[in-house]
Order: sequence, then structure tokens, then C-alpha cells
Amino acid sequence: MHVRVVNRIIAKYKDNRTSLISILQDIQKEFQYLPAEVLKLVSEKLDLKLIDVYSVATFYKSLRLSPQGKHSITVCTGTACHVRGTTKILDEIQSQLDIAPGYTTKDKKFTFNTVNCLGACAIGPVLVIDGKYYGNMTPIKARETVSKYLKKTKNK
Ligand code: FES
Repeated sequence: MHVRVVNRIIAKYKDNRTSLISILQDIQKEFQYLPAEVLKLVSEKLDLKLIDVYSVATFYKSLRLSPQGKHSITVCTGTACHVRGTTKILDEIQSQLDIAPGYTTKDKKFTFNTVNCLGACAIGPVLVIDGKYYGNMTPIKARETVSKYLKKTKNK
């Protein structure tokens, strides 16, 4: 099934490797993310190195390498948030969820992402969970906030 979808999308762009970003965006619309086997197919079809396809897929924040979880946790890594300690917050959440940014937990409940600026620099560092903004974060506050969501979703 993957092969047919990938062939159709690549044919739409006339096998043009310069359309790689558009091709990956269209594929993501079909599968909601970019499965590894699909990226391999794309590299073979377009005669591109797999590493080059991955470089594009990981460079653009709108492209995802794993399926989206039910809930999203996003930490701002923009300059204003970074200088106020985002790195420690990221480490804290990473150890709490046991996944790196860009990934989804095994139970598919949480997707963890970073973003470059949320336009809320005055209240940075900023954490966003399911669209709700939490400002002036510290590692301890971030852990407590994420813990609440983990508890809330435990048996759901
Ligand atoms: S840098 Fe984080 S909200 Fe702007």
C-alpha cells in the first residue's frame, strides 16, 4: 500500500528530486508522519541517498518521523527562552517521558517537540501542552505540570 501511494505522489511531481519537500509533505498528509520504509522508498525512487532524504525530513519542523500522540508537549527553544534555562527543562521532560524531542511515547499518548519561538517571550521559558501555555517554567515546575497530564491520562 505504501508503494502505491509513494508512486502516485512522486509521479505527481514528475519524478523531480527538487520537489523533495513537497513530496514529503504530501506523503505526510497520507500517513500523518513519515514512516522509515517510506523514506527508503522515496530515496530509491528519486535516486537520492537515504541520508539526504533524512536531512530534509529532520530539518523541517513540520515534517514528523513518528506518529503523533494523543497529547502534545512542546518546549520553546527560542533565544529568549533558551537564555532563561530551556535546556534543563528539556532534559527534565525528556527523562520524564523517556523520549527525545521529535518523538512519541510508546503508548502513543504524548508527542514531545521543540519550537523556535511561540511569540510569548515575555513569559519564557514556555511550555505548551495541548495548546495550553505554561510560562515562567523551571525544571521543577515543568516536571509537576507534565506529571499532572501523565496522571490524568494514566488509565485513558
Ligand atoms: S523565544 Fe520562547 S516564546 Fe519566544
